[in-house]
Amino acid sequence: MKKLFNLILLCFFVIAGIAQPRTITDFNKDWRFSLGNDSMALHKMYNDKSWRTLNLPHDWSIEGDFSDKHPTTANQAGLPAGIGWYRKTFTVPATSKNKRMYINFDGVYRNSEVWINGHYLGKRPNGYISFRYELTPYIVAGRSNVLSVKVDNSAQPNSRWYTGSGIYRKVWLLTTNQVAVDHWGTFVSTPEVNNRLAKVRVQTSLTSRGGNNANVNVETRIIDRAGKVVATKVSTGVAVSGSTTIDQEVVVSEPVLWSVTNPYLYKVKTLVRSGNTLLDEYDTNLGIRYFDFDPEKGFFLNGQALKILGVCNHHDLGALGAAVNTRAIERQLEILKSMGCNGIRTAHNPPASELLELCDKMGFIVMDEAFDMWQKRKNRQDYSVDFAEWHKRDLEDMIKRDRNHASIFVWSIGNEIREQFDSTGITITRELTKIIKDLDTTRPVTSALTENEPPKNFIWQSGALDLLGFNYKLAAYPELPKRFPGQKFIAAETMSALATRGHYDMPSDSNRLWPPDSKSPFATGNPDLTVSAYDHVYAYWGSSHEDGWNAVKKAPFMSGIYVWSGFDFLGEPVPYPWPARSSYYGIIDLAGFPKDVYYMYKSEWTNKPMVHLFPHWNWPAGKVVDVWAYYNQADEAELFLNNVSLGVKKKSGDTLHVKWRVPFQPGTLKVVTRKDGKVVMTQQRVTAGKPAAILLSADRTNIKSDGKDLSFVKATIVDANGNMVPDADNQVTFKIAGNGFIAGVDNGLQTSLEPFKASQRKAFNGLCLAIVQSNGKAGPVTLIAEAEGLKSSRVTISSK
Ligand code: GAL
Repeated sequence: MKKLFNLILLCFFVIAGIAQPRTITDFNKDWRFSLGNDSMALHKMYNDKSWRTLNLPHDWSIEGDFSDKHPTTANQAGLPAGIGWYRKTFTVPATSKNKRMYINFDGVYRNSEVWINGHYLGKRPNGYISFRYELTPYIVAGRSNVLSVKVDNSAQPNSRWYTGSGIYRKVWLLTTNQVAVDHWGTFVSTPEVNNRLAKVRVQTSLTSRGGNNANVNVETRIIDRAGKVVATKVSTGVAVSGSTTIDQEVVVSEPVLWSVTNPYLYKVKTLVRSGNTLLDEYDTNLGIRYFDFDPEKGFFLNGQALKILGVCNHHDLGALGAAVNTRAIERQLEILKSMGCNGIRTAHNPPASELLELCDKMGFIVMDEAFDMWQKRKNRQDYSVDFAEWHKRDLEDMIKRDRNHASIFVWSIGNEIREQFDSTGITITRELTKIIKDLDTTRPVTSALTENEPPKNFIWQSGALDLLGFNYKLAAYPELPKRFPGQKFIAAETMSALATRGHYDMPSDSNRLWPPDSKSPFATGNPDLTVSAYDHVYAYWGSSHEDGWNAVKKAPFMSGIYVWSGFDFLGEPVPYPWPARSSYYGIIDLAGFPKDVYYMYKSEWTNKPMVHLFPHWNWPAGKVVDVWAYYNQADEAELFLNNVSLGVKKKSGDTLHVKWRVPFQPGTLKVVTRKDGKVVMTQQRVTAGKPAAILLSADRTNIKSDGKDLSFVKATIVDANGNMVPDADNQVTFKIAGNGFIAGVDNGLQTSLEPFKASQRKAFNGLCLAIVQSNGKAGPVTLIAEAEGLKSSRVTISSK
């Protein structure tokens, strides 16, 4: 019965001329993988039966053991790289005979080479770029086909941070008709926007393959969030031979503008028809907004002044490594959003499209960055070796892929590029800027610079930058408008302050520069390689968070700030040598647990009343402890120890916290904030007893049973009264039952050499994390956490 119904439906579609025009197939399941090099694996008949079966995205580095012997070095977390092969055997339906087929890779780190049925399709050195190959001439419809991918990340060292290795982003199989919208074939911009109307310009590139010239009609519909078509334009009689671009203008009246608080997205639907037959249907997201960077007053979005409150992030997802997972990215953005963050700088490479889609939907101002180096290297085997041959293609592809994202406001052509110090900087800057301007004139081009003296900065001397991005060097901020008259500015990178979550060294009001200067690669620091989480430790080129934020806050010409960094990331473990293997720079640790300074930002960047009291209240008897609180929406804060007031404090001047110096006595430490004499918030820290139990809490207890969705489960070690034990380091074992598996574990400790792909983890300063992933089947998933001598805990997640 069902079959008959489907047949009738199909006949209806064919007659009505609305047979499905393009199909995008998720091509990530059931690949074969082998670590090591076997060049025979390019051949179709190669026997890969003994290879491991896995689903993409996949990062083989994160599965490896930590060692300081790996050629990647601690800068890449001491994880292995090397060469790996992937193969996928698949059939395509006989009906695809007259179609065009493409394989799309969102990103492969690095030096990928691809074959279909033994035919070489090409190579792509850049590990962060998206690309596709056409399969049509080599594919056998109705029979089995084999795609082979070699990934060569063996030339090391090639990065200053952890890259991961493998097909770490998604792969898609695309089938189109002979006439179709081209790859990244739409460019939607808004040349005129006001509250009454938006003129939307839609440039659509069509391609006609196989000598099929066609005469088509192109209909563009703008659809609002409720699904209502709000504007339409039809261009008839468009002759398509080879490649043709059409330019349409559509007017949307009373548009809802995209902003960081209301990231409203329309959809642009492109329909290509020949007569009544629908040849292609293509969707592009559209955010209608206008903006301006002003040399004196900073950034304006839709006519309103808005400081960009951003962070720089690398692409790894902690315990999941580089393997892209949409929910893991979304969780990072949620944690940042609730801190008041409204901006992301994609340090220092084109990100996964998933990140940009989420930024469009959640309201972030993105600086999309192309390169960390040009011709002059930062590491022996880095992209500098490919720059000459590939930079044009890579930069063009980045812009074409990304230019429809409402969240992108700035293109960055590079981070701390060494060519800023000699005249080659002039030529290359002009060339890169032209590549961008040929594809998009709607956004400013910047570069994250370190040299703020005009005669010494050749990137600046090119005259080609629209916006000057400066990294660090706060002391020069007041000088910038004089040195670069009439220019627009952004603090592209700031702080490089350091902290280990939950670790405190006193006194809290003396600053530590770790490392102290350019002659010392490492800090003497603490013997256990921890860094104090009072905001008083930073690299010698950086500043405390309070100082960095104050500098930007007070400089009206600074359109915004991108703090280094939002999250701790794998690699670059400044200020320590091995076994430190991940960064200390994050406002949030690698496991996603906020450090205390998260709440400084929350107090400054949000209006919702909050208070945060730290440190914990477990100290040796009599120790004098520095107690800090961050708060907002209040005039004062009063501290009580066991109900005895220790005094009222008020924030003053540039100090964004209040502080008391308290001789420790066990009990309850409590802070009360007040406005006009009325209590706004209170928070307390209680001296914890011995570890007695584990407490599990999941960030989501309902997930999708799509094989990808995640629940991040925090395990807290608590005493008999439920108080977190702030130094607990119990070994926690996770057991899982039902339709899920443990995708990774972590505790945020920068020196832990325990594997991330495991079902046990030591707690660090009272916490650890298990990431539960759907296995693709619906039904409950139960996670149980056990530790010797502690009461166990369980949480059940529903996967539907
Ligand atoms: C900056 C650089 C970043 C990171 C940071 C660490 O100079 O742009 O990638 O290395 O320093 O402090």
